[in-house]
Amino acid sequence: MIRTIFLFLVFFIGTQVHAQLIPPARPDGFAYPPGHRVDQDTILIEAFYDPVCPYSRDSWPPLKQALKQYGSRVSLLLHLLPLPYHDNAYVTSRALHIVNTFNASATFGLLEGFFKHQAMFYGAQTQLLTRPEVVKRIVNLGTATLGNSYHHLLKSGFNDTKSERSTRVSFKYSASRGVYGTPTFYVNGFKLADADSPSDFGGWKKIIDSLVLPHKVER
Ligand SMILES: *[C@@H]1O[C@H](CO)[C@@H](O)[C@H](O)[C@H]1NC(C)=O
Ligand SMILES: *[C@@H]1O[C@H](CO)[C@@H](O)[C@H](O)[C@H]1NC(C)=O
Repeated sequence: MIRTIFLFLVFFIGTQVHAQLIPPARPDGFAYPPGHRVDQDTILIEAFYDPVCPYSRDSWPPLKQALKQYGSRVSLLLHLLPLPYHDNAYVTSRALHIVNTFNASATFGLLEGFFKHQAMFYGAQTQLLTRPEVVKRIVNLGTATLGNSYHHLLKSGFNDTKSERSTRVSFKYSASRGVYGTPTFYVNGFKLADADSPSDFGGWKKIIDSLVLPHKVER
């Protein structure tokens, strides 16, 4: 009897440790530009993206332009929200996590690769493919986009539960912020209403200037 209880406890505790995702060891999100130093005066934009969402894709070039233009005054933290109604959202998100453990800059290279060739991963275009065939497509795209050294990395990454767990954490994090569509933007912790979400550089400029300029003329 005692032995049974002991075994049960070992099993129970073991399962708990294995199941522990939340809180994660590191906060969720990919910083852009990678390694960018953020201080109290930096305006923080958080973007919630799905790699196979056309609206996320279209919103990236103007956001990227704004980040370039404003340099150290603005920084981006990108979160992933793989939407359940996009067939390959989860598996493409997982590829971004795999690459990120190796090279944070390459994450954004691969995201742009997915955006550029997004139609290859839409539900209709992959409905007759098996899961391994879709993964192979992703590995091939990643290799073509980032270089041969990523071939093995991506292949073995899909074999490793670590990347699967990080992707779950991303999903849970986005859900915990109440985000249910992509792209969704937060600026300094506050959500932009859909109607205020910039669709071009001018939209970002308007938002960022309104936060930067008063600070600049201070005293
Ligand atoms: C990381 O990726 C970037 C962009 O793809 C590349 O320029 C850089 O050389 C890579 N660094 C390493 C250590 O592989
Ligand atoms: C994936 O895992 C299986 C079983 O653990 C192993 O046989 C295979 O070599 C692994 N593949 C890669 C690319 O790591």
